[in-house]
Amino acid sequence: MPQINFLTIKEASQWVSQFLSRDISESNISYLIQYGRVKKYHDNGSTLVNINDLKNYYLSFQGRREISWEKRLGKDLNWGLSFDHLREKDTTKHVHRLHPYKGKFIPQLVEYFIDNHTDDFKKDVYFKTDDIILDPFSGSGTTLVQANEMGMHSIGIDISHFNCMIK
Ligand SMILES: C[S@@+](CC[C@H](N)C(=O)[O-])C[C@H]1O[C@@H](n2cnc3c(N)ncnc32)[C@H](O)[C@@H]1O
Repeated sequence: MPQINFLTIKEASQWVSQFLSRDISESNISYLIQYGRVKKYHDNGSTLVNINDLKNYYLSFQGRREISWEKRLGKDLNWGLSFDHLREKDTTKHVHRLHPYKGKFIPQLVEYFIDNHTDDFKKDVYFKTDDIILDPFSGSGTTLVQANEMGMHSIGIDISHFNCMIK
């Protein structure tokens, strides 16, 4: 494979940081690969990305959204947790389809925190199958249902009668 347009994750973070004149971490680049925003190549066991793919991403609508939120929220923004790559129909599964609840957060975010993976940001695993999760502000029940879906038990409390009723 000709190496000229290909960079390791570390090189890519340096190249993009220079291209955009702002810090883009290695985690940002890993996120782009993990969620298929840029294609992953391999060479002798190392992961490589193509400069043109990176350029296209950061000049695209999604890339500009990431940069604009980073400007507002700070450099330590973990864009992967925006789940920006998912379609609305995927983030409004189960309870969210029941009614138009405004304060919802998405099941994928709950799944990220209660599943058994670790990464640069989530360094520990907190829950396992059969654990009991208590959500004392359970809202529309995203955490409760996601926990059930992942083989855990869940108990919810909420000050709102309506929210208790829908669970
Ligand atoms: C953003 S929602 C929580 C979402 C929820 N954790 C989930 O997984 O879908 C926040 C909830 O906290 C509830 N709440 C606010 N103050 C409360 C209190 N003092 N006691 C119990 N629930 C409260 C609100 O009624 C609201 O439903």
